[in-house]
Amino acid sequence: MFSPLISRRRSIRKFTDRPLSTEIVGQLKEAVLRAPSSRGRNPWQFVLVTDREVLGRLGEARAHSSQFLAGAALAVVICADPNKADTWIEDCAIAATYLQLAAEDLGLGSCWCQIRMREHADGRSAADFVRELLNIPDSLEVTAIIGIGYPGEKKAGHSRNSLPWNKLHIERFGEQG
Ligand SMILES: Cc1cc2nc3c(=O)[nH]c(=O)nc-3n(C[C@H](O)[C@H](O)[C@H](O)COP(=O)(O)O)c2cc1C
Repeated sequence: MFSPLISRRRSIRKFTDRPLSTEIVGQLKEAVLRAPSSRGRNPWQFVLVTDREVLGRLGEARAHSSQFLAGAALAVVICADPNKADTWIEDCAIAATYLQLAAEDLGLGSCWCQIRMREHADGRSAADFVRELLNIPDSLEVTAIIGIGYPGEKKAGHSRNSLPWNKLHIERFGEQG
C-alpha cells in the first residue's frame, strides 16, 4: 500500500550490519530502472557499491553529510550524461526517489547524500572525488548517492499535523481554501 509507505518513510542514517540478499538487491535494481525519464531517454547510470572499504571512502565524499554511507550495506551512486537529456537532474531525482521508496517497501532504511554542487574536504568537488574513486567517466555528472541498509534507528513518520499545509494553494496562490 502506497499511502502507509510514504507516511512512515524517514531518512535513516544508521544501519545494522546485516547484508542485503541478492534477491533484495535484485528488486532494488529493477525498481530504479522502472523510474520514468523525460522522453524515455534514461540519461542515468547507477553504480552499486557493497565493498566495505569503498563504502567507507564514499562516506568521506563530503565533510559531514556523507558519513552515514560508511555504515550502509549498499550505496547506489546516481550519475547521468547531461548530453543525453536536458532533464538529467529531474530524471536522476526521480530514480533516487523510486529507489528510496522501493527500499522502504522492502523493510530497508535509506538516505540521500547530495553530491552535485557540493564540495569534498580538499576543495575538489564531491563529484570529482566520487568519479575518481569509482572510475566514472568525466562525461557523467554525479548527482547523489543513496545509502541503503537494514534500519539501525527508529524514527516516527511525520504526523499529519506536522505537514506544511500552508504550502498548498487552492485555485490561486495565497488562497489556502
Ligand atoms: C535533494 C536532497 C538532498 C539531501 N542531501 C542529504 C545529504 O547530503 N545528507 C544527508 O544526511 N541527508 C540528505 N538528505 C535527506 C534530508 O535531510 C531529509 O530528507 C530531510 O531532512 C527530511 O527528513 P526525512 O527524510 O526523515 O523526512 C537530502 C534529501 C534530499 C531530498
